Amino acid sequence: MKILMVCLGNICRSPLATGILRDQFKKLGINGTVDSAGFEPYHIGDNPDERAQDIAKKHGIDISQHTARLFRKEDFDQYDKIYVMDDSNYHDVMYMARNAEDKKKVDYIMNVITPGNNDEVPDPYYGGLYKFEEVYTLLEKACKKIAEDIKK
Ligand code: 4NP
Repeated sequence: MKILMVCLGNICRSPLATGILRDQFKKLGINGTVDSAGFEPYHIGDNPDERAQDIAKKHGIDISQHTARLFRKEDFDQYDKIYVMDDSNYHDVMYMARNAEDKKKVDYIMNVITPGNNDEVPDPYYGGLYKFEEVYTLLEKACKKIAEDIKK
């Protein structure tokens, strides 16, 4: 199972989601690949936002080694599932999809908890630490469910 997490900057939500899901895979003994990408070029090559690193660390997860990169069309070939955080990422990824098969791989990550609702994981970048807490809680819930469903 190869999963790609997508957000805008690839420095907050998607690296966090990647760290959390990798941790869940490890805990459940799942052999899978998880990575992340974004759409905003400004942070290419950067490590995750300090606040994202701190909240991950608080939960025993190290995301410090990730470097931000842009989403590319080839990701549709390399990943089985592409989870987006919000409406903007959803439309960006769908716009790059080449065919129905590509589109089928894409979904809002929160739809694993509330199917069909297209609930967003809010962008925490301009928020305070509590925003990162909120994002962490949402992503942990979703990632636990993703891992449990794979394990079934
Ligand atoms: P992310 O948060 O999409 O969760 O990584 C953001 C980080 C940076 C920017 C936007 C969102 N930015 O515009 O620089």
